[in-house]
Amino acid sequence: MTQASSTRSAADTSRPALATADTPAAGEPRGWWRDAVIYQVYPRSFADANGDGMGDLPGIRSRLPHLRDLGVDAVWLSPFYASPQADAGYDVADYRAVDPMFGTLLDADALIRDAHALGLRIIVDLVPNHSSNQHEWFQRALREGPGSPLRDRYHFRAGRGTAGELPPNDWESIFGGPAWTRTENPDGTPGEWYLHLFAPEQPDFNWESPAVADEFRSILRFWLDMGVDGFRVDVAHGLVKAPGLPDLGAHDQLKLLGNDVMPFFDQDGVHQIYRAWRKILDEYPGERILVAEAWTPTVERTANYVRPDEMHQAFNFQYLSTYWDATALRQVIDASLDAMRPVGAPTTWVLSNHDVTRHATRFGNPPGGTQLRTAGDRELGLRRARAATLLMLALPGSAYLYQGEELGLPDVTDLPDEVRQDPSYFRASGQDGFRDGCRVPIPWSGSAAPYGFGPTAGGPSWLPQPAEWASLSVEAQTGDPASTLELYRSALAIRRRQPELGAGDRVEWLDTPPGVLMFRRGDFVCAVNTTGQPVELTVAGTLLLSSAEDRQPGVLPADSTSWWAV
Ligand code: NOJ
Repeated sequence: MTQASSTRSAADTSRPALATADTPAAGEPRGWWRDAVIYQVYPRSFADANGDGMGDLPGIRSRLPHLRDLGVDAVWLSPFYASPQADAGYDVADYRAVDPMFGTLLDADALIRDAHALGLRIIVDLVPNHSSNQHEWFQRALREGPGSPLRDRYHFRAGRGTAGELPPNDWESIFGGPAWTRTENPDGTPGEWYLHLFAPEQPDFNWESPAVADEFRSILRFWLDMGVDGFRVDVAHGLVKAPGLPDLGAHDQLKLLGNDVMPFFDQDGVHQIYRAWRKILDEYPGERILVAEAWTPTVERTANYVRPDEMHQAFNFQYLSTYWDATALRQVIDASLDAMRPVGAPTTWVLSNHDVTRHATRFGNPPGGTQLRTAGDRELGLRRARAATLLMLALPGSAYLYQGEELGLPDVTDLPDEVRQDPSYFRASGQDGFRDGCRVPIPWSGSAAPYGFGPTAGGPSWLPQPAEWASLSVEAQTGDPASTLELYRSALAIRRRQPELGAGDRVEWLDTPPGVLMFRRGDFVCAVNTTGQPVELTVAGTLLLSSAEDRQPGVLPADSTSWWAV
């Protein structure tokens, strides 16, 4: 192996075009997804081609070369479907239409084709747990009133109490408040209640209804026929509810979430849905994949979603929730690899997404979960974030990046309340109320907001960008070997040249002092110092890359990661 250069070589960027819907994937290597680096695009905030302040599909299309040059394998697009945007598109009114705010189906088709021509795969978001309350099915069910068979597609129930004035059970919405909203009958009298695990604008589907199962099989085929390479399945753990929708009892539900099996999450019945979907995907050429967004109590339960006849990958939220601490990191890495090995699925790794505080901000704060409201120590946060990324990209399996992390963006923790749009911000005691901070539009270039996000300097952006983001833009960082963008480019270029970085299902740990992790993978060594002090450490080999600028021979700088060829 050779020393990484700060910019990608021509050989790194020239990759073969991929199959499209009408040109099958002849001769492509099997299992592309096992070690893929997958980049999440949040369409509202990536690139705005028409200047209305909201990102769109033509904008994404115009910026695909950035993703090719960055060196990722695939792009996951958060929802761009027709939606009233009560939850930023995770409330879908029409699963087969593009919201006019984002473009048209023709734009989606062009985006998929362009991505494939650049060697990038496209994964779209599928939202099967709930629809929008503006979805035609829900509106018709409301209009037809109690007793209509159309109500079987959702969870409509009579209320409790003498006059049905109380919700049917004690479940709470993830966004805060009761998980039930009462309807009005067509004649104006108070009616049944419907279940929504998220906002009231997101009624939960009833997956016992054959019509729901049929509809989603058809939606899968619609997008597979459009040529997408896979689906990220939203709330994959939530589709099946315990029979009878039993009360949870006197518990703090938000504390239980993710730590316990709930009557509405991680029920065993979900797995037969994914077995049926897998069969559909396998009918298509080119290894289309399913990725579970499944918050489960343990990595072992997460592994259930990726058994050989179910999904391909599941997000590793245990990893995302782990703080910058060597012991905790080693434990979660081992536990994740151990859990996935028996089912033969690759482990995935993720540090940031559109629902959590960016890792550059999390690691600049004391340990405190994934929903933070304080900026913390910016410099320390970025230093650790860069180190955490190099650790993640050296692990076996597939890694997820969230747009803007390659620029080292922090969360914007001081957004004025009046610009916030996260629905849970407006509901009492919601767990996720500050998600807008990680959704601020990306700075691409220039010195005036919106920094190339939109076409015109001084033009709008749906959330305001901080003034200091001018120096974090793609343009400002390109070519600067000390920049986070060039660090990501170099790391991904090395990963492409050295496929063993993502391959396999184990790491060989080497002895280290406390607070330091070091492992070998073939002729590659990665060492991580999670302490705030430099540590003496000599590796007999060639240094490939370091997350720290202040490195000296024989020393692993504080809060840094280095890679060597040995
Ligand atoms: C998970 C998505 O990532 C989040 O953004 C959304 O609010 C919920 N699912 C509900 O769809």
